[in-house]
Amino acid sequence: METMNFDRELKEVTEMAERILKCHLPAEEGAQKQVIAAMNYSLTAGGKRLRPVLMWEAFRMCGGAGEEIVGCFMAAIEMIHTYSLVHDDLPAMDNDRYRRGRETTWYVYGDAMGILAGDGLLNYAFETALKASEYYFKNDGITNQCDTDAEELQEKFNRLQRVWHALSVLAQKAGIHGMIGGQAVDIMAEGQAAENEAEQQLMFIHEHKTAALIQAAMMVGAILAGASEEQIGKIEKCGYNIGIAFQIQDDILDVTGDSKELGKATGSDALNQKQTYVTLKGLEQAGKDVEALSREAADLLDEFEGEHEFLKALILHLIYRRK
Ligand code: IPE
Ligand code: IPE
Ligand code: MG
Ligand code: MG
Ligand code: MG
Repeated sequence: METMNFDRELKEVTEMAERILKCHLPAEEGAQKQVIAAMNYSLTAGGKRLRPVLMWEAFRMCGGAGEEIVGCFMAAIEMIHTYSLVHDDLPAMDNDRYRRGRETTWYVYGDAMGILAGDGLLNYAFETALKASEYYFKNDGITNQCDTDAEELQEKFNRLQRVWHALSVLAQKAGIHGMIGGQAVDIMAEGQAAENEAEQQLMFIHEHKTAALIQAAMMVGAILAGASEEQIGKIEKCGYNIGIAFQIQDDILDVTGDSKELGKATGSDALNQKQTYVTLKGLEQAGKDVEALSREAADLLDEFEGEHEFLKALILHLIYRRK
């Protein structure tokens, strides 16, 4: 794909994700408006919006059309991801003061509001994703089943079932068997000396804390588009590779990146005595592995007939990301 076309398309899809997210922001009102302001503070601070972009592209590749339903999930995954960052930055976790080019949520609003804003984002993510099923009930005639023929009704239930399936994948990949599980092991591993099982442990951390949400993003897109079980499985594998490569590059940038460009502090991992891919394998090998994993992920997409030129280019573009 030509660089110019790629840049334009990336800008367009990112803007689309931004617009959808904006539609779903909670209103800052009521006695609790401070916690809602803290939620919106982190949500509107920018970020690459990679997960909603990946969701949309997987949706498109699998033949999906229309943005209402998938849009609820695009906003939801960005809320879950943002909550994970808000909590990740807390003093009790990575103790960081700079994120997405701004002071972190806890640093501005205090620890308690930082915790509650994260909780609020997680819960509001599911409130938002659930609006997808509400949409079916309200606008898709499910309640008027008397004048709908059996085949049509079956089709409506099939589509509603996709929403339930997507909700279940989202919940699971964000939870103790996904992102939260990875963050827990990441924290427990702080300060540990590298032992025999260090690599296995680090792969567990990277798979769960980072790849799980990237897998969820792509799988949800595919599920909502009506992909087959086999296709969803391939996408899960592809998301694994993208996610591991993404976290390795994050570990690299913590050492070699520019804090201004990244919008977050560098050197945080060393300060917290984290096990990272760089401490385990060194910078050079880490870079090679990012490239190999990403190329393998891009190749997996060739098995799909739907349009995926941009998605493929995006995966390869991430190899060289500096932010
Ligand atoms: C940062 O994620 C945390 C990791 C999982 C490495 P991103 O690099 O996607 O952060 P934003 O969304 O662009 O701020
Ligand atoms: C965190 O990994 C991944 C999350 C689930 C938030 P890091 O702690 O390395 O993320 P950054 O570098 O602070 O963005
Ligand atoms: Mg962390
Ligand atoms: Mg961190
Ligand atoms: Mg990091």
